[in-house]
Amino acid sequence: SPAGLVWQVTNNETAKSAEERAAILADPGFGNHFTDHMADICWSEKGGWHRPRVSPYGPIQLDPAAAVLHYAQEIFEGLKAYRHADGSIRTFRPYENAARMQRSARRMALPELPVEIFIDSLKQLIAVDADWVPSAPETSLYLRPFMFAKEAFLGVRPAKKVAYYLIASPAAAYFPGGVQPVNIWLSTHYARAGKGGTGAAKTGGNYASSLLPQAEAHEKGCQQVLFLDEGKYLEELGGMNVVLVKKDGTLLTPESDSILEGITRDSILRLAADRGHQIEQRPITLDEWREGAASGDIIGAFACGTAAVVVPIGRLLGEDFEIVHSGPQSEELALSLREELTDIQYGRVEDRHGWMARL
Ligand code: COI
Repeated sequence: SPAGLVWQVTNNETAKSAEERAAILADPGFGNHFTDHMADICWSEKGGWHRPRVSPYGPIQLDPAAAVLHYAQEIFEGLKAYRHADGSIRTFRPYENAARMQRSARRMALPELPVEIFIDSLKQLIAVDADWVPSAPETSLYLRPFMFAKEAFLGVRPAKKVAYYLIASPAAAYFPGGVQPVNIWLSTHYARAGKGGTGAAKTGGNYASSLLPQAEAHEKGCQQVLFLDEGKYLEELGGMNVVLVKKDGTLLTPESDSILEGITRDSILRLAADRGHQIEQRPITLDEWREGAASGDIIGAFACGTAAVVVPIGRLLGEDFEIVHSGPQSEELALSLREELTDIQYGRVEDRHGWMARL
């Protein structure tokens, strides 16, 4: 392999049959089903990265004292592989995910997985589970790399033994409603992250802390929750970034060192900039959104992420106010950027930015 690792590959003898797989791929939902194999690599302080394997998908044996179970020393990534019309499989900007996983690792005191090894793991797993990359419109194979502290030790310090894994899950739309506008609940009692915290790292704890406010959102009839910084500045949603659309076509999105640097967001902003839209990445207050929506200066908003792609925001619901973005013009730009991005991802148009990788 290019990374110089010799992978030990063990085929799954009880892999799903072609019929079982077809039934799953016909209606995968999101995050429900997993392919026949997984990849993993060990890391130890003494031996570095070693023993790369592809094995049958299945439970992981973990010591009950494994540090991740106690102190949440864990990071993950998310990216997708797409089936093109010629049958080939491409992943979207995988080097960006590799680099972000290294940044997350630094923040969580985990070892940095070399980019070539990250890429190699994708390649190895896709090679054995290629039949799991669906071909129906708007479906893909969601790839989930993750790393955790497996050393059995209850003292609080960075683990000396770590595991990296890669699993894959066939995916359709993240929200059951597809690209229907979503409602967002504004969390005022809970924050996602603070200055100097772990907000920019893709680590499980950020998502764990979103679950209670996210449940509150569901009670209010909303699909996602919006977090603020200092009770004032827009941060991000439970599991995706947020972008506002101005009447003059300007896109506004938060600049903050406590939010996830979304690769989908970055890509959408580039496509919009290519079209001549003004992009403003800067601190944005909730008041700016409220006043802009009231004056007609802000005409829409959308959520974006790997899992969700781009989904218009129809309503932001607060405890004592709401912002409503309704009508075709509020969704138009979000939907056309979504279409342009997915056209690139599925190979329906030229990949002018060189984002698609054939591993
Ligand atoms: C992704 O979009 O890939 C995420 O990691 C977020 C989660 C909502 C699935």
